[in-house]
Amino acid sequence: TGRIFSGVQPTGNLHLGNYLGAIRNFVALQHDYECIYCVVDMHAITVWQDPAELKTATREVAAAYLAAGIEPKTSIIFNQSQVSAHAELAWIFNCVARMGWLNRMTQFKEKAGKHRENASVGLFVYPNLMAADILAYKATHVPVGDDQRQHLELCRDIAIKFNFDYKTECFPVTEPLIMGAATRVMSLRDGTSKMSKSDPSDNSRINITDDADTIAKKIRRAKTDPHPLPESVEGLAERPEAHNLMGIYAALSDQTREDVVSAFAGAQFSAFKQQLADLAVEKLAPIAAEMRRLMDAPDHVDAVLADGADRAAALAAPILAEVKDIVGFLRR
Ligand code: TYM
Repeated sequence: TGRIFSGVQPTGNLHLGNYLGAIRNFVALQHDYECIYCVVDMHAITVWQDPAELKTATREVAAAYLAAGIEPKTSIIFNQSQVSAHAELAWIFNCVARMGWLNRMTQFKEKAGKHRENASVGLFVYPNLMAADILAYKATHVPVGDDQRQHLELCRDIAIKFNFDYKTECFPVTEPLIMGAATRVMSLRDGTSKMSKSDPSDNSRINITDDADTIAKKIRRAKTDPHPLPESVEGLAERPEAHNLMGIYAALSDQTREDVVSAFAGAQFSAFKQQLADLAVEKLAPIAAEMRRLMDAPDHVDAVLADGADRAAALAAPILAEVKDIVGFLRR
């Protein structure tokens, strides 16, 4: 037992990586932990977002949470900007984290690209806000995909430094939960780059909301090598596309990669892809349909977010009061 916090950015194009690396695990964990699942709209604006699209994308992530099976009565679903504790604690963490720590963040380097001078300051301190998200609730566990590993390491460093500087045991040192056979889903066009919301090629990813024909077409066209599938998992080394597609199959079918490799040993890619497409459609189509239903009349989604924000704020308030007192902020 313990308390879980995790979040997804409302930046459009929710994809299979978000589902297998994160959202699916959120669902699986909700009966063993007290869970808080956030739509991190404040993180989203670290790069430009059209305001109307941001609102839609925020509802869409919430709809994906619900459609995937997160129970809004059991777990808390809310959007970050509705609970001011996140911003308040992030400021304190801006004063705890060191420039050198943030300079090492690979995600900042990737997202800022060559023109680092033009990146927003928010993008640079993004991991501090993420630490604030987690520690505003003293969350003990954080389910994420593999790409968030370094950010969670920074969250641990912040907790440790805060506790040391202020001679307190206020914050837990949070454990990442990186679970399943597809913790790092790769692009369908290039097995060496990550499947991402921002890849300009829509064929690089399977969006959660893609229809059956689109999913089948994208998988059929996915890059492969010319060899038959291997007889053992060792045969997947040096074969990034086969490794990726078999990992996706394993995750979607709740099997290990070993199981999948032995089931398809020596098969042609074309036969495997047909089965993978059927499996992906079987798992994703009901989620997409439910998301569409929820988005048609978003009152229910809005009510879930409002209720979640109230419950989240109530959990964060005493923790923030404790932190302010520790730091020495005079309070009335
Ligand atoms: P975001 O919005 O980029 O992604 C949401 C979740 O999806 C996972 N993910 C993947 N998993 C496997 N393969 C992929 N190709 C893939 N792409 C994305 C991510 O690891 C993530 O778990 N910084 C976070 C959001 C965040 C957060 C938090 C997470 C903000 N505050 C506090 C945990 C706790 C992010 O940008 O996720």
